[in-house]
Amino acid sequence: MIKKCLFPAAGYGTRFLPATKAVPKEMLPILTKPLLQYGVEEALAAGIKNMAIVTGRGKRAIEDHFDNAFELESQLQGTEKEHYLKEIKDIIKSSTFTYVRQQKMLGLGHAILTGEPLIGNEPFAVILADDLCDCKEQSTLSQMIDTYNKYKCSIIAIEEVPMSQVSRYGIINGNLISNSTDTYQVTNMTEKPQKSDSNLAIIGRYILTPDIFKILRQIQPDKNGEIQITDALLSQAKQGKVIALKFKGKRFDCGSIEGFVDATNHFAKKFKIIDN
Ligand code: UTP
Repeated sequence: MIKKCLFPAAGYGTRFLPATKAVPKEMLPILTKPLLQYGVEEALAAGIKNMAIVTGRGKRAIEDHFDNAFELESQLQGTEKEHYLKEIKDIIKSSTFTYVRQQKMLGLGHAILTGEPLIGNEPFAVILADDLCDCKEQSTLSQMIDTYNKYKCSIIAIEEVPMSQVSRYGIINGNLISNSTDTYQVTNMTEKPQKSDSNLAIIGRYILTPDIFKILRQIQPDKNGEIQITDALLSQAKQGKVIALKFKGKRFDCGSIEGFVDATNHFAKKFKIIDN
C-alpha cells in the first residue's frame, strides 16, 4: 500500500521571477487554489493521507497554508464568507504534513533523497506540484497506484510530447507490455536529450520503491552539479524494475508561463468562470 506522498518544493522557480522572489512557486494559484493544494488533493483522492514536503528557505508560506489560521477563521466564522475556507480546512483535518528542508538546491534527485527521513523504508508517491493534472475519471496518481499494485516496482507517468520538445523532458524508451493499459517496460531513459527516437516524456508523478534512496546516494552529479532522479531510475530500469504508464488525462506544465496560462484558462472554462 502507498501511504505517503513526497512533494519536492524547494526549487527556486526562476522562470516565474519576480513573482517567486518571496512567494514559493508551489503557492502560485490556478484560480483560487495554490498549485500545491491541487497536488495534495490528488494524493488524498488516491487514498494517501501523509504528505511529506521538501521545502527550503523562503518557503514558509507552504507550512502556513496547511495549518489552522485562527484569527482569519474566527473573523469569518458565522459570516457568509466562511465557506471559502471549507476545502482547505477539510484537507488539514484529513491529512498529516511533515517537512524537511533541502539546504542546497542540488536537483530533483537530491530533493527526493532529502525526503528520506520522512518516508522511511516503504514505497511512496512523488508529486511535482508544478505539473498539474486534470483527469476525467481517475486521477493520475490513482491510475499509477493501480499499476503499482500489479507490478510492485517503480512506476513513472509518461505522455507523448512533440518531437521538437524532447529536449525539455526526461525521455524513455520501452517495450509496450499492455496495449489496453498503455504500460511500458522501461529499457532506457535520458534526461533532456538533444534528440531522441522516442517522444515518451516523463511527467511529474512517480511511485518509487525505497531502494531508490540507496541508488540516489551513489549517483554522481551531472554537469550542472545536480543529482537527477532519471539517473537513479535508469539504474532500476536496467534491472527491469521500472514501468511507465501513459496516463489518461491532461497535464499542464505550470512551471512554465505558457503552461500556467493554459491551466488557468482550462480550469476557468471547466468551472464556467469564463465562456468556452
Ligand atoms: P523544476 O526544475 O521545474 O523547478 O523542478 P525549479 O528549479 O524551481 O524551476 P525553474 O527552472 O528555476 O523555474 C521540479 C520540481 O522539483 C523541485 C521544484 O521545487 C519543483 O517542484 N526541486 C527542484 C526541488 O525541490 N529541489 C531542487 O533542487 C530542484
